[in-house]
Amino acid sequence: MKIAIVGASGAVGQEFLKILETRPIQIDELLLFGSERSAGSTYKFRGKDITVKLLQHNDDFKGVDFALTSAGGGTSKEYWQTITKHGTIMIDNSSAFRMEEDVPLVVPEVNAADARNAPRGIIANPNCTTIQMVVALQVLERLSHIRRVHVSTYQSASGAGAQGMAELVEQNRELVEGQEPTVRKFAYQLAYNVIPHIDVFADDDYTKEELKMFNETRKIMHSDIRVSATCVRVPVMRAHSESVWVETERPISPEEAREAFARAEGVVLCDNPAEQKYPMPLFVAGNDPVYVGRIRKDLANDNGLTFWCVSDQIRKGAALNAVQILESLIQ
Ligand code: A2P
Repeated sequence: MKIAIVGASGAVGQEFLKILETRPIQIDELLLFGSERSAGSTYKFRGKDITVKLLQHNDDFKGVDFALTSAGGGTSKEYWQTITKHGTIMIDNSSAFRMEEDVPLVVPEVNAADARNAPRGIIANPNCTTIQMVVALQVLERLSHIRRVHVSTYQSASGAGAQGMAELVEQNRELVEGQEPTVRKFAYQLAYNVIPHIDVFADDDYTKEELKMFNETRKIMHSDIRVSATCVRVPVMRAHSESVWVETERPISPEEAREAFARAEGVVLCDNPAEQKYPMPLFVAGNDPVYVGRIRKDLANDNGLTFWCVSDQIRKGAALNAVQILESLIQ
């Protein structure tokens, strides 16, 4: 098995390395790629130093079985043919191809079988907030069809990559030292703030991030479900949280939902108000599952249920989901 990581120096790229290190996948050769910024630098993998190669239009991907790509949509669009032309399967973390008809969009707990039909050799990894939400929604969908969802997200700095996390650390330090905080990656100062704006504004004053949650959820779940989202950046380092309201065809009681979440693949139920047990990003960062808690009846909708879910955006929201797609294909 020959595997490549494109964007190895990035937040998701680094997580690919960590996850592959621990999974029982036989890897004969691992190739790392980046831009001029990281080409030539080395990373350790299973005891060996691997030098990052410059991503170029050449035959470097010949013989590579899978390429895990996380170097931005522009890079994926520019290089997908170079990466796939010799039969390499590209599992792409960017939003470049997610909604294209001949590209499957996959969350293994929900639609693993879709990954087997990838005519262009590209499988798209969904948006991070969508991944964690559909893992939870699919559990309820099996009980009763979900008609609509309202969701507010609380997305961490890690969603903006390694530079996003560095900016939050830097802003906190600057504020403590009485300096003006440096703002580069986010629209405004993120430290001591929340920013109701992720990705660019698009149709009807929704952001692209919010529209991804609408469109990608329908594609992954093969459903007419409607998702109305407000996506918010919060000064949390890592792991996204979501407050979700679901309307189902028949009412689902909190007890029934708890039982289903407790049994579900990829989900950890963490819901005991009496003991102040509920998921929080501080304690979820670095972990694999989607944590679900605060399950209640919706007071404003007889067919409604509301819950809170938290997951590490770099793991299940990105790198882990991509590796799980790869593993499902190997199986
Ligand atoms: P590099 O550091 O060499 O520029 P993050 O999401 O954390 O910001 O990381 C983005 C990743 O995408 C980095 O590893 C970066 O590599 C990589 N990248 C960005 N542009 C390119 C490109 N044109 N070719 C290859 N890798 C790229």
